[in-house]
Amino acid sequence: MTEFLENFPLANLTTFKLGGNARYFTECRNTDGMLDAIRFAESKNIRYHILGGGSNTIFSDDGFDGLVLKIASRGIQFVREPDGVMIVAAAGEQWDDVVKFCIRSGLGGVECLSGIPGLVGATPIQNVGAYGQEVAETILEVKAIDLLTLRTVRFRNSECRFGYRRSRFNQEDTGKFIITEVAFKLNTVVQPEIRYPELRSFIASSIEMEKLASEAEKLEAVRNGVLALRRKKSMVIDESDPNSQSAGSFFKNPVLTQDKFDHLLDLCRKNGIEDSPPTFPSGEGVKVPAAWLLEKAGFHKGFRKGGVGVSANHALALVNYGGTTRELLLLAEEIQSAIVQQFGILLEREPVLVQ
Ligand code: EPU
Repeated sequence: MTEFLENFPLANLTTFKLGGNARYFTECRNTDGMLDAIRFAESKNIRYHILGGGSNTIFSDDGFDGLVLKIASRGIQFVREPDGVMIVAAAGEQWDDVVKFCIRSGLGGVECLSGIPGLVGATPIQNVGAYGQEVAETILEVKAIDLLTLRTVRFRNSECRFGYRRSRFNQEDTGKFIITEVAFKLNTVVQPEIRYPELRSFIASSIEMEKLASEAEKLEAVRNGVLALRRKKSMVIDESDPNSQSAGSFFKNPVLTQDKFDHLLDLCRKNGIEDSPPTFPSGEGVKVPAAWLLEKAGFHKGFRKGGVGVSANHALALVNYGGTTRELLLLAEEIQSAIVQQFGILLEREPVLVQ
């Protein structure tokens, strides 16, 4: 029997710890529970919102006048294949538990995605990525419920239309599916390939990779390096670190055409900025760190406005220091308009606002 709770507080279900109450709330441990919940919402003629780990969600101070359906399905399967291993994980598994499981099994391909909060089912939606890896490189197939027909559908990797922080699930098909399971294809022959310069130099300075015997030990060493870097930036959720009460990066890094990038350099010169913005390779153009733009526009690390602010350890994370959603959104708008004015770039928000 699916249980529906009324007037349920939402703030503690998100890493921002913001937001009011849901009119109804339920946890779904399997597909049948999800279908029950959808039928419940339809019978009451109310909206529903699918919630994963709450690490990319901002609930309004007024809460949600509908049903919040929390994904709580579990299970990780290990399937040996001729050319590697397939891991099939339920949408409700913690993403980092899947990463740990792969590393312990000596499987490479997701080790740089260590310490990312949230659930497996959310990873394809925004094509989670960090330190030179993204889930699009290892996802084989996504299984989902089609919310129009209530039937199970499957998407092969190429059908997910992955891009930087993008897929069909947060673009043209937003709100059309509940992801129930994700299959990943991982490598058994591993020579961890560390593409991100910051991680490469961190590992080179602290770990003697060649002395490690097994694949699992090498992968574990990369994981530890990633976790150490993320912790330094308060990008690991930690109750004792007030700067981690955030959704990680609040804005996407803008990807500019060469023309737009040249224009940005002109604007920087005109605004008296002596250094040029750093750039990162991106298949789609020139990627510029939004954190750099924030700092140059005056929103430096540790900037505070009321109960919210910019993380003291990374300019791209907006943090709730005991404020409200309203304050957070106002700060985000202030940052966006300052950056449009100075650099002609409109930053796109990464976390999803539910109201
Ligand atoms: N920078 C600053 N100020 C800061 C932080 C960074 O100017 O306070 C500049 C520096 O020039 C630095 C550059 O920004 O070299 C890049 O910073 P960082 O390596 O921390 O990466 P990022 O671009 O800010 C992205 C992802 C992160 C991911 C890291 C590492 C996005 C929106 N964010 O951040 O993902 O962990 O790369 O790969 O693409 C997330 O999405 O929540 C997230 C944490």
